[in-house]
Amino acid sequence: MRRAALVLLAVGVVLSAWAAPGLWKRLETDGLHDPQGPGITQLQQPGDALQALPPDTAGNLVSWVRAIDSGAINPRTNLFPETKVRVLDQDIIIARYGSMPAVKFPHRQQTLWLDCANCHDQLFKAKAGANKFSMTAILNGEQCGLCHGAVSFPLTECNRCHSVSNAALRAQERAAAAASAAAATGARP
Ligand code: HEC
Ligand code: HEC
Ligand code: HEC
Repeated sequence: MRRAALVLLAVGVVLSAWAAPGLWKRLETDGLHDPQGPGITQLQQPGDALQALPPDTAGNLVSWVRAIDSGAINPRTNLFPETKVRVLDQDIIIARYGSMPAVKFPHRQQTLWLDCANCHDQLFKAKAGANKFSMTAILNGEQCGLCHGAVSFPLTECNRCHSVSNAALRAQERAAAAASAAAATGARP
């Protein structure tokens, strides 16, 4: 009985690995490529290219952040030698105490892919709290929505942006306030 279940499981794993390329549309059916064109037999199918990369559940089904972090891909960082490549490891909380968990904006994961100038200062002022965000604008393809839902993970993945519990933030702020009050009292002569 148990052995039968194991065999079934193994068949399932093999089948799902085998079926994986089918998760991506083939070029001749993607509505973008000419199925009669001579190039169609020369081009690599998306499934062949993408199935080996760390999987994701949304968008084009690849976690591009994990793809870089794991070394599965190693994209060229710059075309021109004079381009300064900068990765900034800094998280910013940009929305708190709403109906949703707070939004954590991670610089690191974006600057693995993007230059500072892609966002600063035309799109976002480089100062915490200086920008006025709105979910409506984002859903309309502005602000974060300029990229998310277009070239990076889609807006249906609410919890990837709304990832920090408001209760935890409140507790953190209370602890910080208590610590600075204690420091102020301690500093008194
Ligand atoms: C790409 C990042 C991103 C994604 C994905 C995202 N949001 Fe937001 N959301 C934001 C930002 C940034 C704000 C801050 C706007 C503000 O300060 O009011 C926000 C604000 C909100 C607000 C208003 C503030 C609040 O908490 O009441 C709601 C409601 C909201 N989002 C719901 C959603 C829902 C539901 C989804 C998924 C369908 C979603 N969001 C997906 C970035 C995102
Ligand atoms: C994908 C867009 C994006 C990219 C790329 C980006 N930033 Fe930011 N940056 C933001 C957002 C959003 C904020 C928060 C603004 C706010 O809170 O209103 C921010 C805030 C900042 C701040 C303010 C921090 C503070 O505590 O006040 C600095 C400094 C900054 N960024 C520098 C950089 C540098 C340097 C780079 C390149 C290495 C970079 N950023 C790349 C979006 C980006
Ligand atoms: C200029 C394009 C651009 C803008 C604008 C942008 N992002 Fe991103 N973001 C990316 C790219 C590219 C990645 C890395 C690839 C991916 O995860 O899809 C990324 C990754 C992320 C991640 C990490 C995902 C992970 O798997 O670790 C979060 C969270 C995020 N963005 C939130 C935001 C929020 C919130 C905003 C608005 C304040 C925003 N982004 C604005 C391009 C952008």
